[in-house]
Amino acid sequence: MTEQTLVLIKPDGVARGLVGEVLTRIERKGLKIKALELKNVSETLAGEHYAEHAERPFFGSLIEFITSGPVVAAVLEGPRAIAAFRQIAGGTDPVEKAVPGSIRGDFALETQYNLVHGSDSPESAKREIALWFPEHPA
Ligand code: TYD
Ligand code: MG
Repeated sequence: MTEQTLVLIKPDGVARGLVGEVLTRIERKGLKIKALELKNVSETLAGEHYAEHAERPFFGSLIEFITSGPVVAAVLEGPRAIAAFRQIAGGTDPVEKAVPGSIRGDFALETQYNLVHGSDSPESAKREIALWFPEHPA
């Protein structure tokens, strides 16, 4: 089943020059890039994107971090694209959960600075694609 997913290369990934590395891994996996843009993130967009975490203790620092510099936003497409990207991203905690060979496992040390975001369900993907790429066909 072909799916689309919303992926972000977060400010740490852009600042560290890992955009090419991440896009290479996405393409190597076989996922198709359907939309791609370097974006500055407003507090409003950040808050809507991470709305599910609004009550979590890390919400404030998460918003501060995601608005701290440009991100690369992308829509990816492919069979099981949502799970496929989360597989190559690795678990949220880049040391305890992400395995070596994954993006987070290979390049990150701290949960807050874990380089990438990927939608976690078809509902999230739909909502997040509409948020980041309002002109993108559903
Ligand atoms: P979450 O949606 O749980 O993780 P994922 O990005 O793997 O879907 O959390 C969103 C982001 O919030 C996560 O990528 C990093 C940050 N975060 C923290 O800073 N501390 C935490 O304890 C958690 C769970 C997440
Ligand atoms: Mg998440």
